[in-house]
Amino acid sequence: MSEKLIDVVDNAGVVRLTINRPKALNALNSAVLTELESVLTDLEQRSNLRAVLITGAGEKAFVAGADITEMREKTPEEARAFATQALRTIKRLETLPVPVVALVNGFCLGGGCELALACDWAVASDNAIFGQPEVLLGVIPGFGGTQRLPRRVGPAMAIDLVTTGRKIDAQEALRIGLVNRVMPQAELDAYAEELTKQLVGNGPQAVRASKLAVHDGMDQDLDSALALETALFAFCFAGEEQKEGMSAFVEKRKPNF
Ligand code: CAA
Repeated sequence: MSEKLIDVVDNAGVVRLTINRPKALNALNSAVLTELESVLTDLEQRSNLRAVLITGAGEKAFVAGADITEMREKTPEEARAFATQALRTIKRLETLPVPVVALVNGFCLGGGCELALACDWAVASDNAIFGQPEVLLGVIPGFGGTQRLPRRVGPAMAIDLVTTGRKIDAQEALRIGLVNRVMPQAELDAYAEELTKQLVGNGPQAVRASKLAVHDGMDQDLDSALALETALFAFCFAGEEQKEGMSAFVEKRKPNF
């Protein structure tokens, strides 16, 4: 039986996805993307989903990019189809209704960096290396990097990284806002566990509404976005969660969501 390219582990609704192609540094080929999309289709249906963590198998790489061996002989039409498949898959990850966190455990290059950019936030091990080295291969980022990178780190830094193809270490990634935290690789699992506890302790609908407000609001003008926030804030008062959360505070006990 063939090994799964995406390992899925569920811990109380916090689902950890591991891209499992360590011999090729978890490079994204069509098979990986197809399996990832199928897993995401499944997760989209789950009402008890609380968060998604995504990482790469092994200690060397998160994802070292799109698969260069597979891309090498592609025609323009085939390249377009490959990028379209990747963009669709990555968008599905981005738009999951719960927080999506990249645990970047090593090389995070090209399509790997583009995958991390579609996550709500990223934490990196101190050996992680980031970059968009596509120009070194005679192409440009094709999995969203030219658009999500400037939105995350600003256009000047994005054009620097995309046109030079230079690699940066985890500390520089932290400084430019590409990742939220850096820690020794051995601590990534403990971080994931702590995050799981934290998220599972919060009101699930409130967590979903928070993400929705930020995501949908960012695409709107400020007044419309503030109106969206007000609507979602009011919506929270329609459910049991707000009653339980506020009662627990007043009664000096932990909420039971
Ligand atoms: N595609 C396919 N295979 C890859 C790969 C990739 N992106 N990255 C690494 N591999 C494979 C290597 O070919 C090698 O396979 P073999 O053992 O069969 O030879 C294996 O993974 C281990 O890699 P290395 O021996 O190269 O390991 P290293 O430690 O010497 O170097 C590295 C590590 C610096 C990450 C180097 O592998 C590298 O530069 N990889 C390519 C990075 C890259 O250019 N990524 C961007 C791809 S283009 C892209 O992503 C386009 C887009 O936007 C859609």
